[in-house]
Amino acid sequence: MANFQLVFFFSSTLLVALSPTVITAALEQDLADLDSFIQSLMECESKPIVGLTISLVKNGDVVFCKGYGKRDLNQGLPLDNRTIFGLGSISKSFTATLLASVLAERDGVTLDTPLVDILGHDFRFQDEFLTKKTTLRDVLAHRTGLQRFPTKLLQFGMDIDRAELTRRVRHFSQVHPFRSVFYYNNLLYTLAGHVAERLAGKPLNSCYGKRSSSLWGRRPFNVGPSYLTYSRDGHALLVDREETFRIQKLHAPSGGMASNAADMARYMQLHLSGGKGPDGRTLVPDELFRESHTVQFFRPYQPDKELYRPQYPVGVRNNGEGFGLIVGDYRGYRRLFRSGIYTGFSSLMSLFPDASGGVFTSLNGPAFPSHVYIDVHSILHYRVADMLLGLEPWLNTTTACSFPQPWATYDVNMTMPPAPSRDFPRDKRDYEGTFGNPLFGNLTIRLNSTDGTLRFKVGLVGHGILLPISPGNRVLINGPPSQSAPVVANFEETQGGAINRLVIPVASPEPPVVFVRGLKLTDVDELPTEEGCAVSGAEATVYKMWSYCVQLGVAILVFTFI
Ligand SMILES: *[C@@H]1O[C@H](CO)[C@@H](O)[C@H](O)[C@H]1NC(C)=O
Ligand SMILES: *[C@@H]1O[C@H](CO)[C@@H](O)[C@H](O)[C@H]1NC(C)=O
Ligand SMILES: *[C@@H]1O[C@H](CO)[C@@H](O)[C@H](O)[C@H]1NC(C)=O
Ligand SMILES: *[C@@H]1O[C@H](CO)[C@@H](O)[C@H](O)[C@H]1NC(C)=O
Ligand SMILES: *[C@@H]1O[C@H](CO)[C@@H](O)[C@H](O)[C@H]1NC(C)=O
Repeated sequence: MANFQLVFFFSSTLLVALSPTVITAALEQDLADLDSFIQSLMECESKPIVGLTISLVKNGDVVFCKGYGKRDLNQGLPLDNRTIFGLGSISKSFTATLLASVLAERDGVTLDTPLVDILGHDFRFQDEFLTKKTTLRDVLAHRTGLQRFPTKLLQFGMDIDRAELTRRVRHFSQVHPFRSVFYYNNLLYTLAGHVAERLAGKPLNSCYGKRSSSLWGRRPFNVGPSYLTYSRDGHALLVDREETFRIQKLHAPSGGMASNAADMARYMQLHLSGGKGPDGRTLVPDELFRESHTVQFFRPYQPDKELYRPQYPVGVRNNGEGFGLIVGDYRGYRRLFRSGIYTGFSSLMSLFPDASGGVFTSLNGPAFPSHVYIDVHSILHYRVADMLLGLEPWLNTTTACSFPQPWATYDVNMTMPPAPSRDFPRDKRDYEGTFGNPLFGNLTIRLNSTDGTLRFKVGLVGHGILLPISPGNRVLINGPPSQSAPVVANFEETQGGAINRLVIPVASPEPPVVFVRGLKLTDVDELPTEEGCAVSGAEATVYKMWSYCVQLGVAILVFTFI
């Protein structure tokens, strides 16, 4: 029973100790150098960091596992190798690993079994061909071409369970031809987690064991506060934890795991040992692990995300998608990696099989502007990789601070939300009501008679105010800053002039998300699919380009998984 062993594996990880025998004098020197490198990175003016944790595996052994900075700014608490961090999309690697262990014990079910054969006929996509053909491999490698709904307010606030999500995928539109492009999809990873639950015959929580720090949607114990913004002068915006953890109940498989540096070291050892546990027993069969470490689908070259050798002293490439991991190379050596962002946390895990080594880092502070914080992780991983692989380091404390200079500069354009106008073009009461969407449920709008604002509510965490934008019936949907950036949308009228639809444009090529007044969510199956609505391309672009916006002097940051 491989997955029971997996439970044991994660449950037994809390008492990991460094094995002193592996620390030679040379390694001791390397680790001392790394320690001072990290301390000076923490001081960089350009990269304000609240706290950082790191663990390192070399030749299969945990050789370094430490915390830096603060866990809690208010109380001045230090951070250590037991402090829990949100893993964001590194959760996807856990989902793929769990599936591998579950598949290993099931006859007749493989990565290439159509999902419909596992999930039954309550599950279907809009397209019959897709329903028949889509397999776990397609979902895990992000190659279905299905809609991903990149509106955080909606996607992460869904107030349903995973079984219901399985039923609602029938409303996902096809935005790219099947198996034609890499199109990252959080909701489908959540679906993959549900496949694991169905095959294991028990909920995800129990697949991972009670004592594990890696929790599925339960509120992790020992987790400190985290921060949406932070500046050197001490200004910090605290994440609303209550809301943040609530939404992870559904999305645990795609972004809701939490763990600490010590346990993540053990997770890296599991990958590096070809699926063996601490006592040498096989927890996940090597063949399945090898599949997840192999490119399943090629990604196009991403000029903004890769270090290109003629420009940088080294080359760092992303070759394509394995399962929950990206397969790439670093200075010619194989690298398997995955980054994750979860409101107030950002993390990166890199494995270097040639050195039987790996590194995990996590920050408990802002993740945006993403280039700054992704860089902090990358810089640390490059530095550690040089050490693990015995290469001359190419980053020093000066270039770590100035990175990507002197080699490159960022060209980052921030798009601000349009400024609200003074008034709505119609009586505010015209907008009141309940608007339904087959996937996201009801969005209700009410006029607050005390302060005269229009307030909305949708899903688990979507609540806030609607502000008018001229011209026309456009609005800014202003949700909680921990969950979402403001979203531009527009109301549409019937021929008789009544407000009957709220249309939320989503980045191209996705169709807009449409909420229809009075939609009965019980008979949604009979509804025709919504096709392109009158949404200006400019609005969709605003949404897409919006890495963050500054409003009322406080940075409001986009919550996302990457
Ligand atoms: C965690 O840090 C403590 C010191 O705070 C250290 O004694 C211990 O070895 C570290 N744990 C691991 C797994 O390295
Ligand atoms: C750091 O590296 C840069 C470029 O590689 C070099 O110009 C600089 O002199 C180095 N600084 C230190 C302190 O070694
Ligand atoms: C940013 O804006 C400048 C000037 O409008 C433009 O030339 C540049 O291409 C833009 N960069 C990106 C990444 O969109
Ligand atoms: C209405 O507005 C008042 C004043 O801003 C606020 O205190 C109250 O909570 C609001 N009521 C609702 C239901 O949003
Ligand atoms: C959504 O609102 C409609 C009325 O507009 C109602 O019939 C339906 O029960 C509501 N659905 C939920 C899930 O609250």
